Amino acid sequence: MATRKKIALIGAGQIGGTMALMCGQRNLGDVVLVDIMEGVAKGKALDLQQTRGVLGFDVDVTGGGTGDYAIIADADVCIVTAGVPRKPGMSRDDLLKVNLEAITKVAQGIKRHAPNAFVVVVTNPLDSMVYAMYKITGFPKGRVVGMAGVLDTARFQYFVAEAAGCSPQDVVGSVLGGHGDDMVPLVRYCSVSGVPLTKVLDRSKIDAIVERTRKGGGEIVSLLGTGSAFYAPAAAAVAMAESYLRDQKRTFPCSALLDGQYGVKGLFVGVPVVLGAGGVERIVELELDDQERAMLARSVESVRRSVAETKL
Ligand code: NAI
Ligand code: 2OP
Repeated sequence: MATRKKIALIGAGQIGGTMALMCGQRNLGDVVLVDIMEGVAKGKALDLQQTRGVLGFDVDVTGGGTGDYAIIADADVCIVTAGVPRKPGMSRDDLLKVNLEAITKVAQGIKRHAPNAFVVVVTNPLDSMVYAMYKITGFPKGRVVGMAGVLDTARFQYFVAEAAGCSPQDVVGSVLGGHGDDMVPLVRYCSVSGVPLTKVLDRSKIDAIVERTRKGGGEIVSLLGTGSAFYAPAAAAVAMAESYLRDQKRTFPCSALLDGQYGVKGLFVGVPVVLGAGGVERIVELELDDQERAMLARSVESVRRSVAETKL
């Protein structure tokens, strides 16, 4: 008899709570919310259970504290947002020390109680936090990924759509590199309903969109005044989990461990990957020109510096 999948959302804050709702609405699997603030996890879970009669989803949502990680036992997917978000004026790297402590505890809990899970890390600074998760769990490289590129690409898609007067769904784009302000939106690989972007928008508009995408997280941090973006990050992480759980084999830009691809070894960097039941089933190597290679190299150096700070 088929059993329902189990999704552990570790961190029940803005992104965690939003993901729980999205997982429920998509009937992806039973959801367990876990947070150091036990009441928040339990309260959001109960609130979500009380939407089921109205929204009509079948999966269960439960919550608990970090005192007993056994509640995530045998989860199929763990999505990790535990930690703190940015405040205005902070870079993602300013979060490293405090969030590394959270990731270390979470990774130990996942390793012990959900040893077969596919793990999606969201916590910033993303590329070094996913590296820490991989090192501490010791999981195979295909079962640990970071979410950033799906979000950065979604921002790029939206800005292009807004300028071109079309639907974001008809914009194809890809953002490579680390999840920092030197990420690499690949203009050459972007199209609107199959028409290359350079034929749709003039160069100055494209350059402005690239810059706005790079600073897209900061733009929302400044507007919110407290916390950072959560709807689009939640949607991005859930899409990655869904591709794994439903073996959709979608190609998404994810922070994945590189083993020589793009000339990088031993670091998690945002690249297009195929996500299916086997986790990261394939890394797609796009051909880059000299300028794109140089931008990627700069972004990789930022990731390398951040990873070095973890001392792992
Ligand atoms: P939030 O502050 O609303 O939620 C974080 C939750 O983690 C809080 O409820 C907190 O109590 C909990 N927490 C802290 N330490 C914990 C621990 N040791 N174990 C379990 N739970 C713990 O923050 P939000 O907005 O949900 O963001 C979460 C993280 O995601 C932040 O680090 C943020 O910078 C990052 N982020 C990453 C993005 C990406 O593209 N990779 C995009 C947006 C945010
Ligand atoms: C974002 O890009 C802050 O990383 C977060 O929205």
